[in-house]
Amino acid sequence: MKIFLDTGSIEEIRQGVDMGLVDGVTTNPTLISKVKGKDFKTVVSEILKATPGPVSIEVVAVDYENMIKQALKIRELGENAVVKIPMTVDGLKAIRDLKQRKIPVNCTLIFSPIQAMLAAKAGASYVSPFVGRLDDISEDGMFLVEQIRSIFDNYDFQCNILVASVRNPVHVVRAAMIGADVATLPFDVLTKLTEHPKTAEGLNRFLEDWKKVSPEGKFLL
Ligand code: E4P
Repeated sequence: MKIFLDTGSIEEIRQGVDMGLVDGVTTNPTLISKVKGKDFKTVVSEILKATPGPVSIEVVAVDYENMIKQALKIRELGENAVVKIPMTVDGLKAIRDLKQRKIPVNCTLIFSPIQAMLAAKAGASYVSPFVGRLDDISEDGMFLVEQIRSIFDNYDFQCNILVASVRNPVHVVRAAMIGADVATLPFDVLTKLTEHPKTAEGLNRFLEDWKKVSPEGKFLL
């Protein structure tokens, strides 16, 4: 399963890339609004350069014609730009059009299996089910991912399931077990994936015991 970072922060992207854990990035207008002191074009251009893979950038138009205009502008910024289009009727028209122009689309704000199927039929490269926001209203976000996986496998849709609105490591484990193609994670969830209390406890014990071997702290040097 690929791991994307869900962020507008160039610092988080650089740290994640240094860890060797970032296959791509997703952004949205809310994440971009948190970046201060830089205009939108500069922020997006920096992210595209720093990311060793696809970067989803969202249109803010809601009508088909303007979605296409914004999509073409987004795509001018980099070969790794993926256009994020919301799941609406105009969005589906835009997805079909962009597919013909060979511009990859991530269809966002997916909350039902049938929305995912329509996006895949229209030609989206990615669908983004928002699991955390479903959990927030007492639904089961990961069950939606299972449903989409079954539908895409039944009909051999070549569309990536990108698990979004991830809130914790359990979402990531379940995404991998279901066979989702990508999970996009906030930076704090990415770092939590490396942690376990028994790992920290074990490391502390080894370091304490090493002091018995070498009280002066020397190690083969
Ligand atoms: C996905 O691409 C979205 O940017 C994101 O995952 C939304 O997550 P949220 O529900 O935490 O805002």
